[in-house]
Amino acid sequence: MAQRVVLAYSGGLDTSVCIKWLQDHYDAEVITLTIDLGANDRDLGAIQAKAVSLGAKKAIQVDARSLFVNYFIFPALQAGAIYEEAYPLATALGRPLIAKLLVDVAREEGAVAVAHGSTGKGNDQVRFDVSVGALAPELKVIAPVREWGMSREEEIEYAREHDIPVPVTVASPYSTDVNLWGRSIECGVLEDPWNEPPAEVYEWTTGPAEAPAEPQYVEIGFEHGVPVSLGGEPLDGVSLIAKLNELGGAHGVGRIDHVENRLVGIKSREIYEAPAAMILHAAHRAMEGLTLTKDQARFKAKVATEYADLIYNGLWFSSLHQDLAAYVASSERHVGGVVRVRLHKGTCQVVGRQSPKSLYSYQLATYDRADKFDHRAAEGFIKLFGLPLRTQAAVQLLTGPEGQLSIMPPKVSEDAKKVEEGH
Ligand code: ARG
Repeated sequence: MAQRVVLAYSGGLDTSVCIKWLQDHYDAEVITLTIDLGANDRDLGAIQAKAVSLGAKKAIQVDARSLFVNYFIFPALQAGAIYEEAYPLATALGRPLIAKLLVDVAREEGAVAVAHGSTGKGNDQVRFDVSVGALAPELKVIAPVREWGMSREEEIEYAREHDIPVPVTVASPYSTDVNLWGRSIECGVLEDPWNEPPAEVYEWTTGPAEAPAEPQYVEIGFEHGVPVSLGGEPLDGVSLIAKLNELGGAHGVGRIDHVENRLVGIKSREIYEAPAAMILHAAHRAMEGLTLTKDQARFKAKVATEYADLIYNGLWFSSLHQDLAAYVASSERHVGGVVRVRLHKGTCQVVGRQSPKSLYSYQLATYDRADKFDHRAAEGFIKLFGLPLRTQAAVQLLTGPEGQLSIMPPKVSEDAKKVEEGH
């Protein structure tokens, strides 16, 4: 009897070929699973029909946009998770959710395996395989593209032989992945990191030079580090992100050009478009700037790096993640208020912030008459703060060959004078 396999199906050439190939090589009964994570470039009905026409036993569709936003995107935003200070992790965040849904459907349908269309060179195969392995060790994971060893040309040949439509877009030299949190684009001329990305790679963002001359202001409301409103109007997460992608994109905000370190050991050059992600991370950082203490903020930055790495590395379903998530949730309990952002010609600048839990004190900060800061207390503070330095300077001397400082030229006063005399 044919065994059932649940295939993550995007409707593209690779996963369409996967349907036939799984039938041929594994004698599998293929059930396709197409998941809506907010990619705006697809017709889900048509994808479902295509799967059935290519011989899928069943074509399942799931709208996972809210799940994606509430359980993946917003926690990552609260964590400040940005990989290598550049990539807001759109693709990386989608994978564990796809893995979880594959597992759920496989169990409902009595399947023995799940399959995905990742190649053998990227991070995505790792994310899928590791996630499924953690959630459902009894399921086999099949990655046809990694296994079949066909070149692009052979794949197209195979598709033609099996009456699989080869879309004209196959002529496109780029490989893309899209969801609500961003677009990822690689391959083609982008593989030379010296090449400026041609205008055609961008679909969500206007070129900054062509963006409107007038800036646009957006006010983003936060509760517990999660954005909940735009311009004072409460909005669900999916709509809020979609709206910011539109606004930011129109002003040329959200382009990222990143040579990143893949988990499998290679450096790769990827272009991202992520207007909402960039705006929300900037606004969230500003909200934290107002509401976290200095110590919390510094520790949070370390957590953010770890958090981003574990998402990138496919370790979403790990205990370390669970532990860090608990810390992040706790850290966000007072992170609420409104941030005002200015979008203009490719820039996104925070220009205002306010919070009922703000730690900013006007009376402490001001140089005006309202000043309540105890200036005299500064003397005692400095005396103790500088104590170890004075002790060290007295014992270890800052002058003479022994105590010479490498951070300062030996004859600094003479060098400085020389400049003066030169006038
Ligand atoms: N480099 C990104 C990541 O590892 C995106 C991968 C998918 N990109 C693509 N263009 N197909 O998460």
